[in-house]
Amino acid sequence: MDTFTIGGDLEVHRLGFGAMRITGDGIWGPPEDPEEAERLLRRVLERGVDLIDTADSYGPEVSEKLIAEALHPYPDGLLIATKGGLRRSGPGQWARDARPERLKECCEASLRRLKLDRIDLYQLHSPDNRVPLEESVGALKELRDEGKIRHVGVSNVSVEELERARAVVEVVTVQNRYNLEDRSSEDVLDACEAEGMGFIPWWPLAVGRLAEPGGSLDRIAREHDATPAQIALAWLLARSPVMLPIPGTSSVEHFEENLAAADIELSPDEVAEIGSYARG
Ligand SMILES: NC(=O)c1ccc[n+]([C@@H]2O[C@H](COP(=O)([O-])OP(=O)(O)OC[C@H]3O[C@@H](n4cnc5c(N)ncnc54)[C@H](OP(=O)(O)O)[C@@H]3O)[C@@H](O)[C@H]2O)c1
Repeated sequence: MDTFTIGGDLEVHRLGFGAMRITGDGIWGPPEDPEEAERLLRRVLERGVDLIDTADSYGPEVSEKLIAEALHPYPDGLLIATKGGLRRSGPGQWARDARPERLKECCEASLRRLKLDRIDLYQLHSPDNRVPLEESVGALKELRDEGKIRHVGVSNVSVEELERARAVVEVVTVQNRYNLEDRSSEDVLDACEAEGMGFIPWWPLAVGRLAEPGGSLDRIAREHDATPAQIALAWLLARSPVMLPIPGTSSVEHFEENLAAADIELSPDEVAEIGSYARG
């Protein structure tokens, strides 16, 4: 699998793992089978994946705690990317709170839960329209200057918001919703590519919909002896060298299936054809 260097010094394999699904229904509470979740996390590492995406709000706290329980002490080269700036009040409830003081609290709590002295990649989960974006990312800059964060990322931003954030602090990654069916962040992806920032597409499988057989990916999947999920992920990897997909799953079997997408080489014609389904 090829690699991408985040922030000039963190080289990772381009296909990562999204750790939001190792929680309960509505991304609330513990997973149904915590031992299976720990097995899955260990398998992620064994298979050489070195980018794990999480957030304090997944569970809340559950995903970060499981990562620490399963994987600490961490091997060299593992990048755990976490996020702060949301508040949870129940299953499926995601309120924004990106006040500087709150972000600092979130970061300190993530450091403790993840048992880290410094978080390699800390992402603002979402701009909060009650707080000037400059103040939210300003807090992350302070955390970076204090050595608590190595690099700053942002999530759920427009090109204009990305530029405002970059005027305050160096931003090394953007995490936005992006998949074959939803390409509304195409302009943000282009901006990342132009500036050498990583682009982390969330919902890379459209929450599993792109993994279902019977859709437009079937024929190309058959030709590669692959599954639709693998083709959807291979297309993302082919779409841009700065693309860092983080498919989420609670299952070792799906994880292995998704990882094998990195071995699929789509021809330029196939990439164009798959891209045209999305636009059409
Ligand atoms: N920044 C943000 O605001 C934001 C928002 C959402 C997510 N994220 C991040 O992005 C990551 C990915 O997003 P996501 O997990 O919501 O969506 P996703 O990766 O598009 O899809 C995950 C869903 O697809 C299923 N799935 C995965 N692989 C499959 C396969 N090979 N075959 C069939 N079904 C499969 C999973 O179920 P099983 O568990 O049964 O495999 C799960 O329900 C998250 O884990 C999280 O780290 C970030």
